[in-house]
Amino acid sequence: MTRILITGVNGQIGSELSERLGGLVGPENIVGLDLRPATPPYLIAHETVDITCKEAVRQVIEKYEVDTVYHMASLLSARGEMNPDQTWEVNMTGLKNILDLARGRNIKIFWPSSIAVFGPNSPKENTPQNTILDPNTMYGITKRAGELLCQYYFDKFHVDVRSVRYPGIISYKTEPGGGTTDYAVEIFYEAIRNKVYTCFVGPETRLPMMYMDDAVRAAVEIMQAEWDKVKIRTSYNLTAMSFTAEELANEIRENITEFTCNYAPDFRQEIANSWPQQIDDSRARNDWGWQHSYDLASITTEMLARLQEKLDTGTS
Ligand code: SER
Repeated sequence: MTRILITGVNGQIGSELSERLGGLVGPENIVGLDLRPATPPYLIAHETVDITCKEAVRQVIEKYEVDTVYHMASLLSARGEMNPDQTWEVNMTGLKNILDLARGRNIKIFWPSSIAVFGPNSPKENTPQNTILDPNTMYGITKRAGELLCQYYFDKFHVDVRSVRYPGIISYKTEPGGGTTDYAVEIFYEAIRNKVYTCFVGPETRLPMMYMDDAVRAAVEIMQAEWDKVKIRTSYNLTAMSFTAEELANEIRENITEFTCNYAPDFRQEIANSWPQQIDDSRARNDWGWQHSYDLASITTEMLARLQEKLDTGTS
């Protein structure tokens, strides 16, 4: 039986991964790790540990005889620009700690990269797997350096590490924090609560996006794929759809007619402008069979229904 460690388990993706993986292998085989204490369901144990402290992480891995790590602990792009030193430390030292601890222990790793590996010089449309990257945020730099580190540990030390470049992730259970794509989640909360949202990027801003359900399934599926199907050991381009902030607002208005969206772009606009508008993920589709399920209309109806339930029952 497998024993899975999820780092960053309190976060937007980590919290939902624990639920999905707990359903697959049983909660008694899932251990959570986060800087902040919490007792999410679907876990046998939660360890409050700083990912930059290799010794503490080693103890957790040995205590629970972990053989698989979903390494989700990370600072995101917008918060990263406010604290570049901490972003380097958490994102790079954290990843290197996990890779080092996996060496010689036969531990399999999932680690998320991001569309933030692309930069202002990358093609914006149909952005290929291999192209100019040149990220210009600290977050993007740590993701690109992290991809190369993964490739290095795979080549030199045979660490079975697998990765996808996530687009913006839309979800209702755990709110994201510190990302540039967070507007695509906040807009739903404000549409329900106040019928008005002031968006921190302009109406024309178009970015690749994905619903959480698809994002979690992608992580599980790339980990379940036969190892020789995973041909890219930096990170796979991955997407579901692309839309502008205005298209998202219009789709919400189809469901909540009185909804108004205003625009007040801040420093996050420049970050968004540096990323692709739409990416080519054909390698993921061809190599290990990636397929998305949710589009803009189905995300919108699902988000509004689930968030309404959550806000009604006071779980937010
Ligand atoms: N969602 C992330 C961010 O906005 C991108 O990977 O920072």
